[in-house]
This record gives sequence, structure tokens and C-alpha cells, in this order.
Amino acid sequence: MISKKIEKALNAQVNAELYSAYLYLSMESYFQSLNLNGFANWMRVQTQEEVSHAMKIYDFINERGGRTLLKGIEGPPTEWKSPLDVFEAAYAHEQKVTGLINDLVDLAIKEKDHATNNFLQWFVNEQVEEEASADAIVQQLKMMKKAPGGMFMLDRELGRRVFTPPAATGE
Ligand code: FEO
Repeated sequence: MISKKIEKALNAQVNAELYSAYLYLSMESYFQSLNLNGFANWMRVQTQEEVSHAMKIYDFINERGGRTLLKGIEGPPTEWKSPLDVFEAAYAHEQKVTGLINDLVDLAIKEKDHATNNFLQWFVNEQVEEEASADAIVQQLKMMKKAPGGMFMLDRELGRRVFTPPAATGE
């Protein structure tokens, strides 16, 4: 059985993951408006990943005898100055999410909730990837300031990203 404190904190993380999905969907829409369909595809996959993160936590709450109470999702930004501006915002957002996950782990340890701590380790590892993949694109876009032709190639590359659903349980 899950404690009320942990249940509440995990509920907040479901909301944060759904906000992430909303943010990346807004970024997808921005890229579509620029006809950068590969960038848009990358954001679509990212959106699907975020929904799957929310569902993973939702399922865990349920499995532990708790309940997810959905709250309103904040509206995300809708405009950015450039593709670089978008990915810098995505990278900053992932760093923020890493902080939220770390806070949850701290709480699980404090509450001696080993199952939740163990479950959260999947997210700890996932955040390493999430930050690295956004930062890699930031770096590529920075290099392209000197070689704008690279944008077309990067758009093609990002267009190849496909969504792979994570395993249902915390592994
Ligand atoms: Fe669900 Fe992008 O972390």
C-alpha cells in the first residue's frame, strides 16, 4: 500500500509528464508551421514518450493500491524564436524534470518506500537519456549557425526517429 504523501507526489509527477507531452506537442506544431517535418516527427515521438511516462506512473499508483486524481494541465508556450530556441527550451525542461524525479527519490527514501524508490530508478536512468538527446541536438544546431545547409540533413535525420514503448513494469 502506498502512503498518502507518496501518492500525492506521484500524482503531481503524472501531471508533470502530461505537461511535458503538451509542451512537446506544442513544439511539434511550431515545427510543422515551418515545414520542418523531421523536427516535427522528433517532437511527436517525444510527446508519445511523455504520455508513456505518465501512464507508467499511473499504472504504478494503481498497482500499489493508490489512485490517480487528474488535475488541469497548464498551457505550454506556443512560440519560439528558432529551432535552436526550441531545443534549448526542451533541454532546460528536461533538466527541470530530472530535478523533480530526484526530489521524488529523496521522498521515497525518506518515507522508506523501497518499492517506489526502485520503480523510480527507471526514470533516473531515462532522464540521463532525455537530457543527452536534447543537448545533442542543441549542439548540432549551434554548429549549423555557420553551415545552414546542415539543417536539411538534420531534419531528415530527426524524421527517422520512431516511438518504442517502454516495458510496462519498472525495468
Ligand atoms: Fe518524461 Fe522527458 O521526461
